[in-house]
Parts: sequence; structure tokens; C-alpha cells
Amino acid sequence: MSEPIGIIGGSGMYSLLTDAETVPVETPYGPPSEAPARGVLGGREVVFLPRHGADHRFPPHLVPARANLWALRALGVRQLVTTCAVGGLVPEAPAGTVVIPDQVIDRTWGREHTYFDTLGPVVHVPFADPYCPRGRVAALAAAHAGPLPVVDGGTIVVMQGPRFSSRAESARNARDGGTIVNMTAMPETVLARELALCCTTLALVTDADAGVDGGEHVTQEAVFAAFARNVADLARVVESTVAALPDDDCDCRHLLDGLTLPIELP
Ligand code: ADE
Repeated sequence: MSEPIGIIGGSGMYSLLTDAETVPVETPYGPPSEAPARGVLGGREVVFLPRHGADHRFPPHLVPARANLWALRALGVRQLVTTCAVGGLVPEAPAGTVVIPDQVIDRTWGREHTYFDTLGPVVHVPFADPYCPRGRVAALAAAHAGPLPVVDGGTIVVMQGPRFSSRAESARNARDGGTIVNMTAMPETVLARELALCCTTLALVTDADAGVDGGEHVTQEAVFAAFARNVADLARVVESTVAALPDDDCDCRHLLDGLTLPIELP
């Protein structure tokens, strides 16, 4: 199989490819955050999309996630690697760590969170395992080779934002089993599942959120500064992950098999 690998870059990662062709795409959900860039990374064909737009104009709750995922699939993507900045909720995930999550707690609301929102046929997509297990293995191998410390697995709590958490919310997220917290992994991750894409996330910890260490509260400035310090290393991990992804069939691609869908996927 030789489909391009999709990459969604989060806060602080607005471009990745040196020699890219811009491919404008329209979708039934409007335009994506930015026209995707097609090029080569890690020896593989890739399509890159900055989640917040190249100038970071989309706040987390207004990211056009349905258009973004749809546009990537329309360009042939079947495997997705995403990056995001996250707050750490446990001492094992200090700033500068890459966490490769395997679970999600969704605390977002009021977002366009499904493609299956028309009357019948009704579709309930499985979401017990939100991330591609084979993609996680590739990402782990890639991250272990890089300079950044790595945490294998963990739960990403996705909050609504755009404000940060109160100390009480941060403590609750940790008590609930959260490892990291961010504002954009949902609905993106479930929309990837609804399009039967393999999804692997590389989460870069930029701060200790509001209370884990009882210290300073997080600020936007601190998040961006921490991301900027580590973005070159993270980009190398993305590249090695892309190179290490398997290119044969995967169970993720069969998630919708046997279901009658109310819409035709691209
Ligand atoms: N992104 C980076 N740090 C964050 C935090 N502490 N909370 C939510 N999103 C974040």
C-alpha cells in the first residue's frame, strides 16, 4: 500500500516539509484549517495540515476538525500522526516529555464531533481503543531513539478551553486517571475513527498544568516557549515515526466493516 501518511501539526508546529506542494481541498464541512501540503518525509509520501492554521488563527473549540480529517482522507490518507502540546498531570510526565497516549477522556462540549449526525442509519463507532496499536509501537520505537524522554501510554484528558484548568479541575483530571491534558485531541481522534483511519498521537508536555506540583500556574506564553524549545526534536520523532509506520492492512481500517453508513466516505 502506498497511501500518503497524514500529519496534523498542533500548536507550535505549523510547517514540517521542506519541499511541499499545496493542495487546496473543499469538503462537505467547509475548508480545512489550511490547504494541506503534500511532500516527502522519512522516505514516505505525506500530507501535512496545521491544526490551528499556519498563523494559529483557530482557537481549540473552533478548529474545523471534521473538514480537516475529511480533507486528509480525500487525499488518500489512511494513517494519521498528530502532534499536540499538553499539560502534564503526573510527575512522570514533566515538561519536555513525549507521551504516546492510549486512552482518552473527552470533556469537550458543543463541538461538531461526529460525521454520523443525520437521521438513520445510526452508526456507533467502537472507541474502546482510540489509537492505532501498531502506530503506537512505531511511535514508541521512534521516540525512544530520539533525545526526548518518552512515556508509553497514558490517558489524555481533553478539556473545552480556550481557558486553562482551575487547580480543582486539574486535580480532578489527575484523580480520574488523566496523564496529560489538552484542548484539541477530541473530536479529532474520534473523527479519525469514524473515517477508519489509524491514528497515532505524539503529545509534547509543555507544563505542569494548574496544580500537579502545587507550583506556578500555566500560561500561554510558557506553553509556546516550552514547545519552541523542543519542536525540532519532536519533528525528528515525527519523521522517524512516519518512516517506521507499517504499510500493510490494519484492523483500524475495518472498524466500519458491516455497518450501513448514512454518508459516503471520500
Ligand atoms: N496545552 C498545553 N498545556 C496545556 C494545559 N495545561 N491545559 C490544556 N491544554 C494545554
